[in-house]
Amino acid sequence: MTRSAVDILGQDAIDRIRLPIEQAGGLPRQAYTSQEFFELEQERLFPRVWMGIGFTSDVPEPGDAIPIAVAGVPIILCRDKDGEIRAFHNVCRHRAATVLEKPAKGTNVLRCPYHAWAWDLKGKLRAMPYFDGTPDGKGCHLDFEKNGLVPVRVGVWHHWVFINFDGNAPPLNEYLAPMNELTASFDLDATRLNRRVDWEYNGNWKFQNDNWETYHHVWVHEGIFEKMSDDLDMETRQPRMATLQWENVVTLQSPKGSNRLPFDVAGLPPVPRMLGEHKYGGGTSLVFPNVTITALDNHLASVITLPVAPGKTKAILGFFFTGDAAISEEMEDHRGPILDRWLGPSRDRYGNDGIRSQDFRIWEGQQIARQSKVADDVKFSPVWEKNIHHFHNRMIDALI
Ligand code: FES
Ligand SMILES: [Fe+2]
Repeated sequence: MTRSAVDILGQDAIDRIRLPIEQAGGLPRQAYTSQEFFELEQERLFPRVWMGIGFTSDVPEPGDAIPIAVAGVPIILCRDKDGEIRAFHNVCRHRAATVLEKPAKGTNVLRCPYHAWAWDLKGKLRAMPYFDGTPDGKGCHLDFEKNGLVPVRVGVWHHWVFINFDGNAPPLNEYLAPMNELTASFDLDATRLNRRVDWEYNGNWKFQNDNWETYHHVWVHEGIFEKMSDDLDMETRQPRMATLQWENVVTLQSPKGSNRLPFDVAGLPPVPRMLGEHKYGGGTSLVFPNVTITALDNHLASVITLPVAPGKTKAILGFFFTGDAAISEEMEDHRGPILDRWLGPSRDRYGNDGIRSQDFRIWEGQQIARQSKVADDVKFSPVWEKNIHHFHNRMIDALI
């Protein structure tokens, strides 16, 4: 049994997170560096929420299956013969080998490489060859019905696939209710995946959530967000993007709901807009605990972070454009500047020339800095960092 959050972090630190933002402190360094805290998250947080694990296009056709690790737990994501997306624990029911070692296409069965037990894509056990000395194993003492692959609850929201390990989270659509409202003006289903890039960073998964502010823009993303006056109204001293918080969603919304890029992307079709009055304009949002979704005029950008270890995170970066513009060659030049902005002209994880690698550089530095005791003393700007204060409180709610 893992020690409690109070034991690991200390009651004082927790009390400080609970204070109004002006006086509040943040999660202390153990929350980012300790194996014990990571295990607490594995025990009390990740199983109880909806974790993003990928996109529907990861398994585009019936018979497609991929292995994936979610916070250390091996999973199979597949699409069955009826087109339904399913997830199973990637653990053989015989002697617990890994069933699916690499992505499969157009398969009817998931076959364990060790002794060839095989399941269909609905998880039903189909074969235990020679287990009882006979070719089909049909006379053996084990019940086929009781040895299916162990399913994991799956939810699909537009392009995003989520899982809930313990099966007790509210229905996904309820969990994501604010996202439905925030993106109501966009026809998300009219977009298609152009590119999925898997990058890693040597830092804790929570740094992505700690980054849901625009305070850092002019310094970290030099050349992309150029002037403070683009992010801050110099007269009111308020950020141009409003921060809004719900239990499982925080967002940054531009005042007019406009989501334009600061450069011309003529030629790229806009994401179709839904008719009617909408309160929000998409903006850029974070779904607790591990998915970000940015909806702009002519594309969507998303990150799914998969915690690997206290100091290691895998990031799945997805970029979506409207209809055929997502894949057509003629549109490549038009998509280019947008991908330059996110991934850098170098398209390199360490290029430090696009928004993503620039953020990752900071997060890796934060991970190193959190080895120091000094890192227990962090503070939040009431002007910019309400989302982060909210997230740290949400973490405490989840763990206590
Ligand atoms: S461990 Fe999978 S068939 Fe034996
Ligand atoms: Fe950033």
